[in-house]
Amino acid sequence: MTDKLRLAVLVSGNGSNLQALIEACSAADFPAKIELVISNVPTARALERARSARVPALVLDRSQCPSQEDFEREALLALRAHRVGLVCLAGFMRILSASFLKAFSGPVLNIHPSLLPAFPGLNAPRQALKHGVKITGCTVHLVDEGTDTGPVLVQAAVPVLPADDEAALAARILIEEHRIYPLAVRCIAAGVTRVGERRIEIPGEAVVVGKSLHNPGKCTA
Ligand code: GRF
Repeated sequence: MTDKLRLAVLVSGNGSNLQALIEACSAADFPAKIELVISNVPTARALERARSARVPALVLDRSQCPSQEDFEREALLALRAHRVGLVCLAGFMRILSASFLKAFSGPVLNIHPSLLPAFPGLNAPRQALKHGVKITGCTVHLVDEGTDTGPVLVQAAVPVLPADDEAALAARILIEEHRIYPLAVRCIAAGVTRVGERRIEIPGEAVVVGKSLHNPGKCTA
């Protein structure tokens, strides 16, 4: 295999998506490797997951980086030092500025627990239940300067069941998140193409199949 795509994962909390990426990256044929985890929360469980997997982890919390500018400057230095080519936000609870996105040379991905553009922002499963939708899901998208507004890369659908409360729905969505985040990384490694302003064309992309709204052949995880 040619050189692997060098990832950094930015986290603030539990880190189950980080875990899914760690596990995907442990396969010899996976085209990416996690070089760095950055947390803005020193007590995040995600940091323990990074340590267990022997992935370098950096904490940039408010005591070290009181302002957004401080955080972004230090994060950029670390990303450059580790020659990171792709940043994955995974439960990272800070908004990155337009100047950070411009200064970092590669793409930045985020995972969100809804079928964007529905239910952006906080508590997406709660929003879906409140709205009464029958199908929700999760989205991996490119990050732009808005909140959950960037072009969609991969999505998976999750039905809303009559007995669902927020926790039950969020847990079923998470299972799909763990499946599609590695898939999205594969897609970036395979060299996706942006068509016009928003549409992302994926090599081998198929029509709607089963639960997966996007079922990219060549990027199959
Ligand atoms: C996930 O639901 C993700 O979609 C959202 O934050 C949650 C993070 O979960 N952005 P985890 O920390 O990866 O377990």
